[in-house]
Amino acid sequence: MIIEAINKRKSWLAFSERNIEPEKLEAIFEAARLAPSSMNIQPWRFVYANHNEPEFQLILDTLAEGNKRWARDAATLVLSIAQTEYMHNDKLYKNAYAWHDTGMANILLMVQAAELGIESHPMGGFDHLKASQNFNLPKEYESVLTIALGYRGDENSLPEDSLKRQNAPRKRKPIEEVAFKRSIK
Ligand SMILES: Cc1cc2nc3c(=O)[nH]c(=O)nc-3n(C[C@H](O)[C@H](O)[C@H](O)COP(=O)(O)O)c2cc1C
Repeated sequence: MIIEAINKRKSWLAFSERNIEPEKLEAIFEAARLAPSSMNIQPWRFVYANHNEPEFQLILDTLAEGNKRWARDAATLVLSIAQTEYMHNDKLYKNAYAWHDTGMANILLMVQAAELGIESHPMGGFDHLKASQNFNLPKEYESVLTIALGYRGDENSLPEDSLKRQNAPRKRKPIEEVAFKRSIK
């Protein structure tokens, strides 16, 4: 059941450097590739790097200090990117759903990872401009999110506050506060 993978996904903090098998990484990106998108534009792009590759450092360098502390142990770092403009009949249009659709691809990616026993952690805390520069993104491509991926690591290596956060029960609004029949009150 997909709800099991959705429940399993949690923003993880203690990562092991164990490599993610290439076929699992492929399955993770395949899930993202299958996301729906406005006019089927498929605005998402992913730049990813495994721990031992130089581009790993290029993504890591963009992260906020608090994220660097644990994301440096991830097996793979992903930079999720949205193409914000598209061509139609030789005219250039702004895609108002570019970030939204990239977000949908991101969650499929993370849920598929969870299904495969791979932890993930989305991070908005990074220098978007630096990420665009590090990967020479053309101006119609915007960096949206960074995602740490990897197998579970040793929790004892985490600082106490991170360990507490990781083991805290999931906090969500009750369903009555988010799903309504008429108005949203
Ligand atoms: C767009 C976005 C940006 C986020 N940025 C960060 C971040 O910079 N650092 C961090 O530790 N967690 C970050 N998170 C993780 C959230 O804090 C987390 O998803 C939320 O607390 C719910 O917890 P859960 O993912 O474990 O269910 C981000 C999540 C999203 C979706």
